[in-house]
Amino acid sequence: MDHGDATTTTDPAEAESSLGAPLVELKNVNKHFGELHVLQDIDLTVRRGEVLVVIGPSGSGKSTLCRAINRLETIDSGEIRIDGQPLPEEGKTLAKLRADVGMVFQAFNLFAHKTILENVTLGPVKVRKERSSAAKERALQLLDRVGVKNQAQKMPAQLSGGQQQRVAIARALAMKPKVMLFDEPTSALDPEMINEVLDVMVALAKEGMTMIVVTHEMGFARKAANRVVFMADGQIVEEATPEEFFTAPKSDRAKDFLSKILSH
Ligand SMILES: Nc1ncnc2c1ncn2[C@@H]1O[C@H](COP(=O)(O)OP(=O)(O)OP(=O)(O)O)[C@@H](O)[C@H]1O
Ligand SMILES: [Mg+2]
Repeated sequence: MDHGDATTTTDPAEAESSLGAPLVELKNVNKHFGELHVLQDIDLTVRRGEVLVVIGPSGSGKSTLCRAINRLETIDSGEIRIDGQPLPEEGKTLAKLRADVGMVFQAFNLFAHKTILENVTLGPVKVRKERSSAAKERALQLLDRVGVKNQAQKMPAQLSGGQQQRVAIARALAMKPKVMLFDEPTSALDPEMINEVLDVMVALAKEGMTMIVVTHEMGFARKAANRVVFMADGQIVEEATPEEFFTAPKSDRAKDFLSKILSH
């Protein structure tokens, strides 16, 4: 895989020191839905190779944050840059941005009427203008990596939720993104399928992929994240290492939130 070849880090401390230049930068970002101030003065920088976990109560703005970074939502004020470039308004540059920012959602968003293989080759051929033979070869490699190569000719509905979500990851990776956004990628899965998806994500993190992951999976955060950001009511309330955050949260909001998710 492209990202894996460049850097292979296994030790979190080593990964920390190898973080690169800012890749995703949000400066003073504000967003309203009507009266609701859903993103409030968000300042956030994610460096190349960094894995950021975003955690927080329902309605705190986590999905809106992800969608704003991918420009699926516009913002009212502030600035978002990907690899130094401001988010484009529309057109071809926007399509290119969407390719640079891979996104995996909670519900599996595979094209229902295309095979697994077609799901993974479509973007590279249409947007990246890759030759279909090259796209196919790469798609099969990626499907192999996420453990579903033998499902390549099936339709999405024939796969389990965990398999579909791994295909969604392969599909995003096929676009050779600079950063991957995951919005609660395991929350719609049956428990026995959660780990097969998290394992793929942990491997991706260890290979040096820059990732922003909305998740309440503490195991993933502890294994893979450099940093945890806790959001509440549209604000970043707390930022810490996973260890600090889960063992000694500082704010009352975070303490309250953690006591609720831990008591499940
Ligand atoms: N398109 C929209 N129009 C109006 N309000 C919206 C829209 N999308 C989100 N909201 C509201 O904005 C707030 C933040 O929503 P968002 O989906 O970002 O929260 P979240 O932290 O992802 O929550 P969850 O954990 O439930 O996924 C919520 O109050 C939500 O109801
Ligand atoms: Mg959400």
